[in-house]
Amino acid sequence: MKLWGGRFQKETDTLVNDFNSSIQFDARLYKEDIQGSMAHAAMLADCGIISQEDGTAIIEGLKEILADIEAGKVELTAENEDIHMNVEALLTARIGSAGKRLHTARSRNDQVAVDLRLYLKKEILEIRNLVLHLQKVIVEKAKQHQNTVMPGYTHMQRAQPISFAHHLLAYGAMLCRDVTRLEDCLERMDECPLGSGALAGTTYPIDRMETAKALGFRAPTSNSMDGVSDRDYALELLSGLSILMMHLSRFSEEIILWCSWEFKFVELDDGYSTGSSIMPQKKNPDVAELLRGKTGRVYGDLMGLLTTMKGLPLAYNKDMQEDKEPVFDAVDTVKMCLPVFAGMVETMRVLPENMRRAAGKGFINATDCADYLTKKGMPFRDAYTTVGKLVYYCTEQGKLLEELSLAELQQISPLFEEDVYEALKLENCMAQRSSYGGPAISETQRQIETIEAFIAQRTK
Ligand code: ARG
Repeated sequence: MKLWGGRFQKETDTLVNDFNSSIQFDARLYKEDIQGSMAHAAMLADCGIISQEDGTAIIEGLKEILADIEAGKVELTAENEDIHMNVEALLTARIGSAGKRLHTARSRNDQVAVDLRLYLKKEILEIRNLVLHLQKVIVEKAKQHQNTVMPGYTHMQRAQPISFAHHLLAYGAMLCRDVTRLEDCLERMDECPLGSGALAGTTYPIDRMETAKALGFRAPTSNSMDGVSDRDYALELLSGLSILMMHLSRFSEEIILWCSWEFKFVELDDGYSTGSSIMPQKKNPDVAELLRGKTGRVYGDLMGLLTTMKGLPLAYNKDMQEDKEPVFDAVDTVKMCLPVFAGMVETMRVLPENMRRAAGKGFINATDCADYLTKKGMPFRDAYTTVGKLVYYCTEQGKLLEELSLAELQQISPLFEEDVYEALKLENCMAQRSSYGGPAISETQRQIETIEAFIAQRTK
């Protein structure tokens, strides 16, 4: 008979048994479930709600069950529906009536809520460490390429000169925010719903402060209905993970472009590339593509859970059992993606000559040319128009700005002097962009130090 079978006259249909059960996916919460039950039992005994002997028997029994699950000695069944009832049934089978006292002043509704929070608190820290590792890889690469000039793009058109380090550090900055988003989420999630009961608290003199503290939460949740109904923390995590994946996906997209023969800015390591079954020449960036693809999957997890939650009245509804699979899927996916991504970036070969060659075309020093005239006294808008005319002249002549003779330049503006050629050198154009946050070495150096301090603060 089911744990809840008292008011039923008939067995659950086998179809419904399978449909209703969640043990196939919530078994992974076994550790948190047992941890929560131990804290609950200790509190019940401390508050005199159950005897100390029963409390001790329950805790000892749970310890053994935990060890047995970890040793693979326990069979968890769909008959017992979910991890909560499986553990309780095992306990009662082992220690008898004391086990039947464990669920005093508790519901599966607050139990599942506490399990999931405990689980996600732990996973968030693991994911954060994986992001920090990726940041370290990015910073190391950036250190080697502060002098590597490449074209920066807008609209996928060559725009202005930057360094490869600067480009990498843009992702470094994004990942810092991804980390703090995870930390914010963790901070808000850090309240314990245990003791909310089914929805309306309990008549027993429980001590929610004790269980919250024992389980490592900052405080208990403050409203029992919210305590069992809230899945904001899971949604917040999924949205933080979606944004993180969006960043990895944009980076992947760039790597895919950079690997193409049209760019050839980088070459992926053989260990991070794949071949074609028919075209012998191919070396494909499948890893980057799959990372980009998995982003859609994580967005799907977020949209799925948002949709599950959108029409639910308070308090618990069984729909909410559907929270786990998307959350687990997103966590697993992100944990798989981050190390692969870090390895791909760490091992990729950067081709500075090709970046420099691409930077030499496309007039990416045109803004610098206008700035040159502006610094000689011409209003910027006039300088802009003047250089626009020069660029047109150059395209007609098939020349670059720096290939024009001084006479040609002076025909357009007498402000041009011999020093214009220095001003148009891409290395100088880049080096002079030393405004705060710019690509000049002084600024990439500052960014590197900032990110290194960010990582150090979190890995002491
Ligand atoms: N397996 C359920 C879930 O994951 C646990 C809570 C069930 N509570 C209930 N009254 N049906 O949401």
